[in-house]
Amino acid sequence: FERPDGRSSRQRLLVVANRLPVSAVRRGEDSWSLEMSSGGLVTALLGVKGFEARWIGWAGVNVPDEIGQRALTDALAQKKCIPVFLDEEIVHQYYNGYCNNILWPLFHYLGLPQEDRLATTRSFQSQFCAYQKANKMFADVVNKHYEEGDVVWCHDYHLMFLPKCLKEYNSDMKVGWFLHTPFPSSEIHRTLPSRSELLRAVLAADLVGFHTYDYARHFVSACTRILGLEGTPEGVEDQGRLTRVAAFPIGIDADRFIRALDTQPVQDHIKELKERFAGRKVMLGVDRLDMIKGIPQKILAFEKFLEENSNWHDKVVLLQIAVPTRTDVPEYQKLTSQVHEIVGRINGRFGTLTAVPIHHLDRSLDFHKLCALYAVTDVALVTSLRDGMNLVSYEFVACQDSKKGVLILSEFAGAAQSLGAGAILVNPWNITEVAVSIAQALNMPAEEREKRHRHNYAHVTTHTAQEWAEMFVSELNDTVVEAQLRTRQ
Ligand code: ADP
Ligand code: G6P
Repeated sequence: FERPDGRSSRQRLLVVANRLPVSAVRRGEDSWSLEMSSGGLVTALLGVKGFEARWIGWAGVNVPDEIGQRALTDALAQKKCIPVFLDEEIVHQYYNGYCNNILWPLFHYLGLPQEDRLATTRSFQSQFCAYQKANKMFADVVNKHYEEGDVVWCHDYHLMFLPKCLKEYNSDMKVGWFLHTPFPSSEIHRTLPSRSELLRAVLAADLVGFHTYDYARHFVSACTRILGLEGTPEGVEDQGRLTRVAAFPIGIDADRFIRALDTQPVQDHIKELKERFAGRKVMLGVDRLDMIKGIPQKILAFEKFLEENSNWHDKVVLLQIAVPTRTDVPEYQKLTSQVHEIVGRINGRFGTLTAVPIHHLDRSLDFHKLCALYAVTDVALVTSLRDGMNLVSYEFVACQDSKKGVLILSEFAGAAQSLGAGAILVNPWNITEVAVSIAQALNMPAEEREKRHRHNYAHVTTHTAQEWAEMFVSELNDTVVEAQLRTRQ
């Protein structure tokens, strides 16, 4: 085994994330089927090849019995996955509670729970304890499977305590932590009751990575302002120990999408879609049904566009594919009803007996259908209120080399920093501005579309998930070597 950086030592990569790339569905006492999980973390990590990797995480189900646990462990082993079993109460307090009702909205600038979410704030302490307990359970599994020389790569806001737990087990473990969401301004982070404990736990890692330089900067200022530590160009220093902090912008496996376009199933879907929407321009939104994605804002902007451009009625359709996510969290349930209500109202207002302006699907599409949709789209709409990176925008660009459609992209998505020159950037809160951008995109001359697409396509095809992982792991190896040299001096 040779590592991608050319060094020939054998090194295993233990990827630790809350979510495994597959989620389990029980079919019998000891039989399971495995389905692809959704989300950018899974998409990016599945695009990483060339490492001898094991993936440790939660399979998305409660498995209280030993027979079920053994059968699921075996089924997952074939995919090089190792499960962490979390019981219902932990999932409720750690995953639905602390991770998705507190950290997720806070890191996306939606603030801490208010009003009806206040009940959650009162149970904050118990949720935080469950969060620490769950992180310790992940650490136990990592520790059990760890072999000397392994690289342990922890992922995302679910596992901020993991670096600390792992280093307590073994201070020689090489531990990296990467955040897939934004890291907010230190003024936002400091509102979190457990602000210091979380920062200190992350700082136990050797290398801490973010999608953008801004997120890394916010993290370093949180450490300096809240913990009083010293920020340096390399990272954060605490009593002579340096935690390296840097930006590693994620990417996709662009070739997988480009190759898929030439396959028969995708070509068949493309043909069907072209026939179905003949004579109309296709606009597309693909998101998890999450409050950070700005789906209501996107649909209201489309309504505004229809209001002000009657010449486009019957000539354009918006396809919004929104896979349900975190459905046990009340905020997500409310969002689903809100989106359905708005879509129903607009379709009632602008629809005819034969056509509606918005097709909204609450479901996940398989890979071939998704590629075909991206390929036939004239305008993609990404209106995240905040988003770590947003890989949907990358996937759209990868599938557009024939059509050269236009990307309307929120300036609050990390991707705005990489695709900003090719996309039309918008403030998703400004519905009028988004409506004007829709008109601009639909009317854009071919020459300008080509120029913008070239820029984005070059970026997406060169800044891949593979490159992202290689850079992170190689930086982690170097950081540890440098730290060892420093302590010897
Ligand atoms: P996030 O990580 O917040 O979900 P990203 O845009 O980075 O956002 O990644 C989303 C991933 O999930 C992409 O790979 C996208 O293809 C996939 N995805 C999102 N919604 C759907 C859907 N409705 N059907 C199929 N895949 C989806
Ligand atoms: C985002 C997060 C991931 C998460 C994914 C899907 O991409 O950064 O950590 O896996 O959303 O959310 P879920 O809660 O279903 O894992």
